Amino acid sequence: MMQPVTIALAKGRPAKQSIDLLEAAGIHFEGFHEKTRKLVFFNKDKTLRLIFLKGMDVPIYVEKGAADIGIVGRDNIIETEADVYEILDLGIGKCKFSVAGKKGASLPDNQSLTIGTKYPNIAKNFFDKRNQTIETVHLNGSVELAPLIGLADYIVDIVETGNTLHENGLEVLADIETISTKFIVNKASFVTRSKEIQDVLNKLEQVVNEKN
Ligand code: PRP
Ligand code: MG
Repeated sequence: MMQPVTIALAKGRPAKQSIDLLEAAGIHFEGFHEKTRKLVFFNKDKTLRLIFLKGMDVPIYVEKGAADIGIVGRDNIIETEADVYEILDLGIGKCKFSVAGKKGASLPDNQSLTIGTKYPNIAKNFFDKRNQTIETVHLNGSVELAPLIGLADYIVDIVETGNTLHENGLEVLADIETISTKFIVNKASFVTRSKEIQDVLNKLEQVVNEKN
């Protein structure tokens, strides 16, 4: 029997919408429930395998062929610069990258800035385009703390509702780009497993088109 096609999904907050989308497309994974701590699931006929990992690791698994398909935010694709095919926008997980700082602060363009972020590449690229040098402080979460505590002047992070910024007395000072959840594919798998991947893609595409 053929190996199952492996789908890598970011666990945590983005997982629910992705699972709902797969379910709506008629793709079910046996024994999956929201509070599970299991990381690997199969569909009924074991042609598909679902694995859960950190969002930032999804593009890496897909690039290296440890997963054939990834369902992951474009934030993680850009930050990792993974060499994968970006096939379809799933229309979920819509948010944006912004530069933020203390309410009322300005964003000077003529001096070097210290930026706290989970996404140093994205921060560097944005400020490079402005011909501005920055020093990044690479953080792993609760990035909004950095300007409050004086660890960094500004942050580059994801903004969805804006609540986290608002509740911490911060505001958007510049927008970088919009992001959403993407369907990505390993370059070799795209050829060797094209039939199985196309089947998953077609089912998802139908659901995405119906919603939009
Ligand atoms: C994300 C992101 C922002 C927030 C944006 O953090 O890093 O902090 O959500 O959402 P909002 O605009 O709707 O408030 P997350 O909650 O995933 O936690 P972490 O940064 O600590 O990992
Ligand atoms: Mg956060």
